[in-house]
Amino acid sequence: MSDFWSWWVIIIVAINIFGCWALLYWTRRIKSQSGLDNETTGHVYDGIEEYNNPLPRWWLNMFYITLVFSIGYLILYPGLGNFAGTLGWTQEKQHSEEVEVASQTYQPLFDKYKNVPIAELAKVKQATEMGKRIFVNTCFGCHGSDARGNPGYPNLTDKDWLWGGSPEQVKHSIVNGRVGVMPPFGASLTAEQIDQLVNYVGKLSGNKVDETKAATGKATFDTQCFACHGADGKGNIALGAPNLTDNIWLYGGSRTSIADTIRNGRTGEMPAHQDILGEAKSHLVSAYVYSLSNE
Ligand code: HEC
Ligand code: HEC
Repeated sequence: MSDFWSWWVIIIVAINIFGCWALLYWTRRIKSQSGLDNETTGHVYDGIEEYNNPLPRWWLNMFYITLVFSIGYLILYPGLGNFAGTLGWTQEKQHSEEVEVASQTYQPLFDKYKNVPIAELAKVKQATEMGKRIFVNTCFGCHGSDARGNPGYPNLTDKDWLWGGSPEQVKHSIVNGRVGVMPPFGASLTAEQIDQLVNYVGKLSGNKVDETKAATGKATFDTQCFACHGADGKGNIALGAPNLTDNIWLYGGSRTSIADTIRNGRTGEMPAHQDILGEAKSHLVSAYVYSLSNE
């Protein structure tokens, strides 16, 4: 904060405190105008009249106490512009103290689970609950809080894996990240060829399609697409190329979205979480993800 704004805050706070005190002092001294004890304000509601009496003493004293408290607080804690307070309290310090306490509580648990194989850990309730908490904090923005995914973000609860579903493969995806690249074919294929491919890809998943177009589409597939998706269309986990025969879609299975994928390509990026989570938490969240499809 610049000096100007610092003083701005200090002066406004001081005026407020002094203003409250002056107001209290002034109302305390007001006597009813007529000098009578039982003068009313003239307000009557439901037979109840409002008297014009000064505030009770104890009530006023509570106000004075809050004023004294506020002054004490502003001396001890930050609040007056750039003045840091005599206790040296900061948000950052409090936060790091809390983090310190939390890591002392959880570190023994992390250490205990660090060396348990993922497939075994997935059966330990306490471990998967810890993993779930990490998941909800770190992954839900992309995969959804129930891990069922969103368009472009895979469902992690089924047995359909882009990059493989073994414990090691799942952990590899989380720790090192993955990038799946489907190249665009809009420039190298005609609109007709793309339409034929859409029919063939639809047929692979057992949908109703135009059979003649699908047959021509197969010929194109066998030259352009098989290298990544496999001759049978079942995909390749080494490249993250999805299985196109299971009717499970990363980007949606409508004709328009399949055509869009082929024409413009797609890039799916799973960010590496090594530096974000560290080894122990990655291990736990891997066990949680693994447990979702291996119960
Ligand atoms: C260089 C490898 C490569 C080639 C060649 C390739 N693909 Fe792909 N394809 C991928 C990858 C990788 C993905 C997943 C992209 C992602 O993860 O975002 C993908 C995704 C797709 C999808 C989306 C699937 C879904 O679940 O939503 C379709 C459809 C598809 N490809 C069809 C084709 C067709 C048809 C061809 C041939 C014209 C083709 N691909 C050629 C690698 C390839
Ligand atoms: C910024 C978005 C984002 C975040 C955050 C994210 N993911 Fe992903 N994740 C993706 C995308 C996109 C893919 C698919 C990559 C591809 O298309 O090949 C993916 C793929 C995966 C895969 C591989 C799935 C498969 O079918 O092989 C796993 C496992 C996974 N994520 C787990 C996690 C976990 C656990 C977390 C939290 C620690 C997480 N992800 C956080 C976007 C994200």
